[in-house]
Amino acid sequence: MSLLRTLFLFLIVGAVPAQGQEPILNFENRFLPKVARHGMVAGPERLAAEIGVDILRQGGNAVDAAVATGFALAVTYPRAGNIGGGGFMLIHLAEENRQTLVDYREVAPASAHRDLFLKEDGEVDRGREFFSHQSAGVPGSVAGLIHALETYGTMPLKKVIQPAIELADKGFPVTFALDSEIASRESRLRKDPEALRIFFREDGSRHPVGEVFRQPELAWTLKQIRKRGRDGFYRGEVAERIVANMEANDGLISREDLAGYQVVEREPVRGSYRGYDIVATPPPSSGGTHIIQMLNILEGFDPQQWGHNSAAYLHHLTEAMKLAYADRSRYLGDPDYTEVPVDALIDKAYAARLREFIKPEQATPSAAIQPGIALGYESSDTTHYTVADRYGNVVSNTYTLNFSFGSHIAVPGTGMLLNNEMADFAAKPGVPNAFRLIESEANRIEGGKRPLSSMTPTMVFRDGKPWLATGSPGGSIIITAVLQTIINAMEFEMNIASAAAAPRVHHQWMPDQLRIERGISPDTRRLLEAMGHEVIDTKRTLGRTQSIMLDDGLLYGATDGRRPGGWVAGY
Ligand code: DON
Repeated sequence: MSLLRTLFLFLIVGAVPAQGQEPILNFENRFLPKVARHGMVAGPERLAAEIGVDILRQGGNAVDAAVATGFALAVTYPRAGNIGGGGFMLIHLAEENRQTLVDYREVAPASAHRDLFLKEDGEVDRGREFFSHQSAGVPGSVAGLIHALETYGTMPLKKVIQPAIELADKGFPVTFALDSEIASRESRLRKDPEALRIFFREDGSRHPVGEVFRQPELAWTLKQIRKRGRDGFYRGEVAERIVANMEANDGLISREDLAGYQVVEREPVRGSYRGYDIVATPPPSSGGTHIIQMLNILEGFDPQQWGHNSAAYLHHLTEAMKLAYADRSRYLGDPDYTEVPVDALIDKAYAARLREFIKPEQATPSAAIQPGIALGYESSDTTHYTVADRYGNVVSNTYTLNFSFGSHIAVPGTGMLLNNEMADFAAKPGVPNAFRLIESEANRIEGGKRPLSSMTPTMVFRDGKPWLATGSPGGSIIITAVLQTIINAMEFEMNIASAAAAPRVHHQWMPDQLRIERGISPDTRRLLEAMGHEVIDTKRTLGRTQSIMLDDGLLYGATDGRRPGGWVAGY
């Protein structure tokens, strides 16, 4: 180990790693992660990350901290932090040396049906699909966070929810990040009287940066949850307010839908890449399955020899993305409603057959790629945060309202925004959805069913120990953002901050376009175009990871600099 690095670690955390270990803060990287020794939360907003670390400092475990941060983000990060949405929490339990996935995805109300969002002419009514009371699935977040806490946490709900209640009651100063998030959705938020009342001043103007922003109704709702647990949300007065708002606006969520909401614990999907083990989110998310499928494809090549973000590397990466997203379009859906061939899709032999469709210097047009091309199988603004504690537990959590601020509709008297997760179903199978993803009957709308997701909290293990945990928002982009982050670390040996910062690309089979971020060189772009790729500059960035790497007995955290406001808290 270099003297420089030893000195650096000593200065930053007072820690000296053991002799002979691989340097992780390799100084050739342009970005350095934050370092901590005992506990860490990497998330999209500072106050909520600090709340998680306070819980860790008080002896709580990673699940206690994740639940505290989850409730706090519902207050401080309203674009995606939520109690009205849903998500997935991947947990590594150190003592038992096992991982589990808490699926608290929203479900379609019982009365929802396949053609819910079709107009008389058979076209999709996008307004109703995205921005109406019918857009909302039955929320899972409160049940999911409480389930995780009661099953794997150590602290009472009263304690971990309290900081969120105080933030909602007393308020907190509006940050530049919060103001820009509200500003970017201002006109849509103003359309709903309750959202207008919550997010703007009485005179209708935006709260200036620095002004204290209070959410008394949200505090009231959180107190109902503090008092009665899950029932404080799914039954009683909060539920009554949700149902009344639904009934007055052609919404579908009923009392029975709320009372009947079920969290499901699932076995994560597992794969490997050159000695690393990947543990990720199973259906009803598509994320883990396709990350493992793409890693399997790439494992048969030699990306290091091409070099990071070289044209040859990006070409093969893109072709792998196309093949995986084509399969996603046909096979993925809620496994409780449709048979999803996960084992076949993550089979290394299947990946070997797919590799044969990749030409070394020629893009295959998406139209020439069919889902299940070699499967031989026949069958009947989100947010992520990552937590690590001193006991070795790790939590990787992605939850969402779907769009930034969900349907932009708030339920009067609850301070809660409704999700628009129903838009993650295929409103018309075969026709692209909000993220331009094509999906099949496997993801048609059915009452009680979970809409297919791309959210994918992911962990990478080295020598059987958690080494990297990450995740991202971004709809269809989540899968490729997480993929590139973990490949950058595993294959290109970047530290976690550099792995997160490196420019990304995205292809999702259809449309047949390769989206690239700034920072991919113009020469590389020309080479990719010469191979037949239609290369598009993204007007937006691709994803926003929140990651923790665990090495040398230390925690290295990175919040993705692509959006303002992210924070790594540690001690
Ligand atoms: O579950 C999904 O895949 C989507 N509802 C995620 C939405 C999302 O990431 C929006 N954030 N930018």
